[in-house]
Amino acid sequence: MARRKKIYEGKAKILYEGPEPGTIVQYFKDDATAFNAQKKDVIEGKGVLNNRLSEFFMTGLNTIGVPTHFIKRLNMREQLVRAAEIIPLEIIVRNFAAGSLSKRLGIEEGTPLPRPIVEYCYKDDKLGDPLVTEEHIAAFGWASQQDMDDIVALALRVNDYLSGLMYGVGIRLVDFKIEIGRVYDGDFQRLIVADEISPDSMRLWDMESGQKLDKDVFRQDLGNLTDAYTEVARRLGVMPKTATHAPKPKLIN
Ligand code: CDP
Repeated sequence: MARRKKIYEGKAKILYEGPEPGTIVQYFKDDATAFNAQKKDVIEGKGVLNNRLSEFFMTGLNTIGVPTHFIKRLNMREQLVRAAEIIPLEIIVRNFAAGSLSKRLGIEEGTPLPRPIVEYCYKDDKLGDPLVTEEHIAAFGWASQQDMDDIVALALRVNDYLSGLMYGVGIRLVDFKIEIGRVYDGDFQRLIVADEISPDSMRLWDMESGQKLDKDVFRQDLGNLTDAYTEVARRLGVMPKTATHAPKPKLIN
């Protein structure tokens, strides 16, 4: 890879300046973190899988008219994306109770929710990404009312798309997180889905066995994370059936 200027390094990805103005190269690392980076490990092959899976989900969204930052995959670990101003919110959509919602409200994990619930967390690792309301978002100017309407509409479309896709391969989409960015086309601003969409930021349960196929495998020490993500990729047809990561990852042809 040609020398590129690093713009930012996060927990799971590195961003480099892209080849053209307004583009960014997103590099997927193998690092896994949980509980606000208190638990850390390197999971061989995770970055390759997430690069592929994020490409798959974002391409599908682009195709059905949900705008995303994704332009093209460059190689095993890198993709070219459109530069966007990230709104400092994590947008969480839930279909079944799990994780922090179950804890906060005392609802048993797996309980179906009467309708999808959209929540917002303020993106700040030092504060542990606290839950915020639309009142905070408006008062502190993180997003306008129009932005919030657009964000909810985008989040629910992503939810319908991902839920249907997962249902087709026997997986329940329990919840997920997305990030939204602002881009400017001339004088117009619009919002697009940014960051990544991968099992790192979703809860995926096998519909029959209830087996977890997402980052909870790492958070709760339930087994091999790469095996779980490989299973998701295999079911979605993202990887050839014969692909294996054992003993050394050789994931993508
Ligand atoms: O995962 P945890 O119980 O801490 O938080 P949650 O609020 O139950 O997370 C809801 C969904 O958003 C899960 O699929 C998480 O993996 C995802 N999430 C994320 O990707 N990044 C965060 N900083 C927080 C949540």
